[in-house]
Amino acid sequence: MNARADSGGEIDASELESLRRCLAIGDAAAGSTSPNPPVGAVVLDRSGQLVGGGATQPPGKAHAEVVALIQAGSAAAGGTLIASLEPCAHHGRTGPCTEAILAAGITRVVFGSPDPNPVAGGGAEVLRTRGIDVVGGQLHDEVRRSALGRWLTATELGRPHVTWKYAATLDGRVAAADGSSRWITSAPARADVHRLRAEVDAVIVGSGTVLTDDPHLTIRNESGELVAAQKVRVVFDRRGRIPSDARVLDQSAPFFVSRDALPDALSALYEGGVRAVLLEGGPTLATAFLEAGYVDRVVGYLAPALLGAGPTVVGDLGITGIAQALRLVVEDLRLVGADVRVTAVFASQEKAAEAATEE
Ligand SMILES: NC(=O)c1ccc[n+]([C@@H]2O[C@H](COP(=O)([O-])OP(=O)(O)OC[C@H]3O[C@@H](n4cnc5c(N)ncnc54)[C@H](OP(=O)(O)O)[C@@H]3O)[C@@H](O)[C@H]2O)c1
Repeated sequence: MNARADSGGEIDASELESLRRCLAIGDAAAGSTSPNPPVGAVVLDRSGQLVGGGATQPPGKAHAEVVALIQAGSAAAGGTLIASLEPCAHHGRTGPCTEAILAAGITRVVFGSPDPNPVAGGGAEVLRTRGIDVVGGQLHDEVRRSALGRWLTATELGRPHVTWKYAATLDGRVAAADGSSRWITSAPARADVHRLRAEVDAVIVGSGTVLTDDPHLTIRNESGELVAAQKVRVVFDRRGRIPSDARVLDQSAPFFVSRDALPDALSALYEGGVRAVLLEGGPTLATAFLEAGYVDRVVGYLAPALLGAGPTVVGDLGITGIAQALRLVVEDLRLVGADVRVTAVFASQEKAAEAATEE
């Protein structure tokens, strides 16, 4: 089955499958490429056989296209390069991918999203003018749901993409009346959070969580050991209340204490190369992020437990009628250990209205 592209040509089912493979390769690199995008690329030889593939390497190292082309070697000549993002055309810390593609003798390029970055973008046009058959703008919805989609959101908004994660009881409590919240969810759900941390560049909590729980906010493997690639632990603490011996301030991972207002803090993180963050609470800070429209994705772990009292997931958002509810679209729903994990994203207004009126 052929799919019409929005910028030139048609692509066949095997190319679409390869593009999905590129998205998966990019997803696996999430959290290691920022400020560069988590891109995946593959090379098919002239008979359509897969001869190379790879992901963007950490900053300053090879882009996905170059990794895939090196693996393909001479088999790339006359073949097709497929990548989740439009190949870059600029000299950054590495050379332009467009030049590597031309040098390898590739005759066709298929990509997912155009590159919104005005400096790196325009690769498709460069390739077309050099005689390459280029098809872009494929699998839009799947791209937006991928790690690359989160990077695109960050680039478009000029602030990190925000995933807000919480653990709550079925009656929506994130702690008991005495403030204790360890542990609401099962060990597998807590291990799953370490996977979420690995996908981002920074993990954020408010001072209230540090004062109550003294979390470490590091990433550990299944044996409980700290992994090599830790994320920046960020505490939003405008009044400077957290103690100097807080565990988030130890040497196991980088940390950053922000005294700024929300937009300034997020801008500072973006300027520092952070493209995706995990907001881990608590409810006061989560409410502030939601009120400001800074939450892009929600991952809620719901434990089959009831507390009846204690702080709820989110505070007063100033909503008084059901029509004003912040609507999301569920992307994924599954059991993790004994708990339910719901992943949802904020819907466009049209989609939200449809969801609200569905029988
Ligand atoms: N189950 C879960 O998923 C989960 C996760 C985290 C925490 N918790 C529980 O939540 C409770 C702590 O709740 P919390 O609401 O106090 O914690 P919090 O949201 O982590 O911290 C609140 C503090 O963040 C600071 N902050 C910095 N910038 C802010 C901004 N722009 N807007 C609002 N606040 C800002 C404020 O202190 P300054 O004014 O000094 O800046 C505020 O008092 C504990 O019982 C903990 O166990 C549960």
